[in-house]
Amino acid sequence: MFRGFYKKTTAQRRAVIDEFRPDLHIMPKALPETVADNMIENYLMNYEIPLGVAVNFTINDQQKVVPMVTEEPSVIAAANNAGKILGNIQTTYGQREITGQIILSGIQHLETVLQKLETHKNELLQQAKDASPNMVKRGGGPIALTFEHKKSKIEQYIVIYLTFNPCDAMGANAINTCLEALAPTIEALTDEIALMKILSNYSEAAVSKATTSVPTQKLHPNLEEAKNIAKSIALASDYASIDVYRATTHNKGIMNGIDALCLATGNDWRAVEASVHAYASRTGNYQPLATWTYDEKADRLIGEIELPIPVAVVGGTISVHPAAQWSLELLDNPSASELAQIMAAVGLAQNFAAVKALVTEGIQRGHMGLQARSLAMQVGATEDEVGRLAEKLQEAPQMSSTIAADLLKEIRENQSEEK
Ligand code: MEV
Repeated sequence: MFRGFYKKTTAQRRAVIDEFRPDLHIMPKALPETVADNMIENYLMNYEIPLGVAVNFTINDQQKVVPMVTEEPSVIAAANNAGKILGNIQTTYGQREITGQIILSGIQHLETVLQKLETHKNELLQQAKDASPNMVKRGGGPIALTFEHKKSKIEQYIVIYLTFNPCDAMGANAINTCLEALAPTIEALTDEIALMKILSNYSEAAVSKATTSVPTQKLHPNLEEAKNIAKSIALASDYASIDVYRATTHNKGIMNGIDALCLATGNDWRAVEASVHAYASRTGNYQPLATWTYDEKADRLIGEIELPIPVAVVGGTISVHPAAQWSLELLDNPSASELAQIMAAVGLAQNFAAVKALVTEGIQRGHMGLQARSLAMQVGATEDEVGRLAEKLQEAPQMSSTIAADLLKEIRENQSEEK
């Protein structure tokens, strides 16, 4: 059904999706102004970014067509190719858990404050639960309270951590409401002042993992070459573990895929970015989030990714944005933890595609086709001219806007001569 999907026209691609999922709502055309105006302050217009699909994913033995919103030309093509090569990607998820903090500063009587908090822990937790009745009704809400003393060069602090199950929501509003409800009681109890109360975007418990084991022969028709590619991918992954310059870019490639899926599903990609990069630094050394090893005996390339992805499938933008709703439907209406696992699989595939390209033909070749089309549009080619100009640009020794403008002139001159 999806064979040659990328070669089809947009209308044909939409028809394939309709055939694949006749149960879906009609693809939304635009974000209605009335909705947009209620989403942000001072709204003026919609700023559009294309939504496409990666059609070759199998995750936990289920075929997935993955919606991706991105302005970067090669991201979806790369995810598509990688999905095909990697085959079934297995995923798991930790706990649905976020953490909030109430921070007390200027602590004078450290032991007394800690003791009071410990003594009243259960009442405080109950108060937090009472402040979140809807989450509690859904089986989530406050889970536990813990306390910790922290000291900087200038100050003593006590931090109260509230762990919280946000169910299928992101939970930022719910947990912040709880923290703000709890803070006055804590202030009265301890005779201290809360410096702030806020959700943390870091969550070590809510980690998604994805793994894949690829027979080496899938990497190249020539077996020797395939083995070399597998070894080079493993070396690239190893190198990223000792060089922050490379690890940063390695992880940026992963986020090309994850952010695109965050955007498609209306999720807060800044929260995901913050969480993921903090996790990459958890040992004190910024590390690659996806790793590849070559199992010589089994002749397989093994890929693994592990990262906390705090996403949601209800609430906020997600529930009001028609394209986000459509994207979730396309993904078979996953739970938040299922969505986080799909994201991990996409991140792993995106990393595989980038690293494979880097250790073989380089990254530019794959970018050429779409870059040529983008250059063609930049120099003013009409819809009818874009394809021809892009072809000519790819044959040219170099691609630049000057060359594109010259070639467009040439096309137009030839056309008027033909007439
Ligand atoms: C470009 O957007 C992403 C890459 O640089 C990722 C990488 O180098 O691994 C290709």
